[in-house]
This record gives sequence, C-alpha cells and structure tokens, in this order.
Amino acid sequence: MKIKRKDLLSLRDITREEIEGIFNLALSFKEVLKRPIPKVPALRGKTVCNLFFEPSTRTRSSFELAEKRLSADTLNFSASTSALTKGETTLDTLKNIGAMRVDAFVIRHSFAGAPHFLAKNTSASVINAGDGTDEHPTQALLDIFTIKEKKKKLRGLKVLIIGDILHSRVARSNIYGMIKMGMEVNLCGPPTLLPKEFESLGCRIFYNLDEVLPRADIIMALRVQKERGGKSLIPSFREYRKIYGITADRLKYIKENALIMHPGPVNWGVELDYDVLDLDKNVILDQVENGVAIRMAVLYSLIGPGKEKIEET
Ligand code: CP
Repeated sequence: MKIKRKDLLSLRDITREEIEGIFNLALSFKEVLKRPIPKVPALRGKTVCNLFFEPSTRTRSSFELAEKRLSADTLNFSASTSALTKGETTLDTLKNIGAMRVDAFVIRHSFAGAPHFLAKNTSASVINAGDGTDEHPTQALLDIFTIKEKKKKLRGLKVLIIGDILHSRVARSNIYGMIKMGMEVNLCGPPTLLPKEFESLGCRIFYNLDEVLPRADIIMALRVQKERGGKSLIPSFREYRKIYGITADRLKYIKENALIMHPGPVNWGVELDYDVLDLDKNVILDQVENGVAIRMAVLYSLIGPGKEKIEET
C-alpha cells in the first residue's frame, strides 16, 4: 500500500491502516533481506539524502542500508564537514541539496519540529529520523513491528515504557502508534522525568516500578538522556538503577513470556543490568534488524512506484 502523503513526520496523524500497510511491506522486505543477493530494483533512479544534524548509529546505518537494498542512490550529509560550519542555514542546506534533484530527505535534528519546517520548504519527501524530544516515527514502527512479529498480535498487550519519558521522542511516537494499534500503554519513571501531562495521551502513569512490572507483556527501557539535561533531574545513576533499573533481582518478577526492548543506545548497568544480555526475552537486536525492513517499507511507500511488484534483481 502506498501512503497517500508526501512525508512521514509523526505517528500522531498516521492511520492504523497505513501502519498495517507498512508492516505488510516490511514483511516482504524481510524476505528480500534473507536472499543471497538482498537487493531489489524498487527505487532504481531515485536519490535519497540522509541529513543528520545529530549523532546516530542505528537509524543512520539502517536508512543507508535500506536505501542501498532498494537500489536508490544515497547521499550522506555530515553537518560537521558541511558549509553549516561557515554559517549556512539548515534551510539553505536543504534547498541547495534539493536543487540537485533529491527525491527524499531523511532528517535527524536536535530541534523539535525541524523536519516539519523543512518539509514545507521542499517538494521532496521528508522522513523524520528523530527531532529533538518530539518524535522518532520509524523507531516506533520498528518497535511495534517487532512486538507483532514476536507476539503475533498487538491488541490488548500491556506495554510498560520505563525511564526518561520527558525527553524521549521514541516514547512519544510509540505512545501514538501503540494506542492506535489497540495496546495498553503504561509509563513509569521518576516524577521529574515523567510529567502527569502524559496521561492526556491515553497512558497510565506509575512511579513505583515494582507495582507495575509483573503485569507487563512488553518492557521497554529508555536511557536517561544526558545530552538533554536528564541527568540533572535524577539524584545519580546509581540511585536511578536501584529504583527504575531492570536489575537481576527484578527479572525474577517479570512475566515468563515478557519481551525486553530498548531503542538504543543502552547504558548497561543503569536502565538494564548485564543479566538481560543473554536472555531470550531480550529482543533489542531483533529491533535493530527489523529497522532495515521497516525503513525500506517507509521509503518504498513514500517514493516507490506503488503498483510494481518487489522484483528480484
Ligand atoms: N534508536 C536510535 O535512534 O538510535 P541512534 O541514535 O543510534 O540512531
């Protein structure tokens, strides 16, 4: 299914049918990724520019791989070696690269709303790869897709997102997406990092992890975002781990078939103890693997031919 929109900026306004369409495409692309030559010509002739104004490992690499697996031409922009260092504005950067006939921009920016602003100033498609504390839609899509893959359903599942919700674009996109898919979203964290206002998004809020952890089907830990001031809102990482960490002791009280997730990067020994690493419940690398197929599906939905089959090369 082709998304009838130019951009993917948020999961707030996307429909359940659009999400299911992306998941169906991602399933086809997962099959492609298992082939000896994991490549299709679906975006041959298209050009995608990855505009990353903030550091990234997973999102940047998986978008680049997704573009290459779809046979698109890929342009990687690095802010630190660009004319931004000479005073060029972000908008001028976009317009200049756009003038080279780019079909889509994948944008990560530290300012919430930057991809929305840039999308209004280009005819190319814009995909939000994380904007400040606002949203990270493709991360949430790959998270929800991974849950569906493992649990075979979404409706009625109890999700528990733990940690620095205040600064988390991943939490916001997941809240929008998960509620749309019929999941129950519970949030837990220190009051300084979990304002009551989140209840208005349809979530339940808890400050005592031990009260809510045993009921969760899906446990998603988040890191405290030092770069956005999160550390100044907790007494110490040691104290945080004691109260909100998934410790070896707490693992005894979680459901037998619960999944443990994390969008990365993980601060091991803080939000997750190393004991989680080798558990079957730990699906963190499944999330990363699914990121390529989900990003292929999003790119194909926005700038792909629509009706053509996903052919072999
Ligand atoms: N999950 C995520 O966005 O990771 P990166 O910052 O490494 O892209």
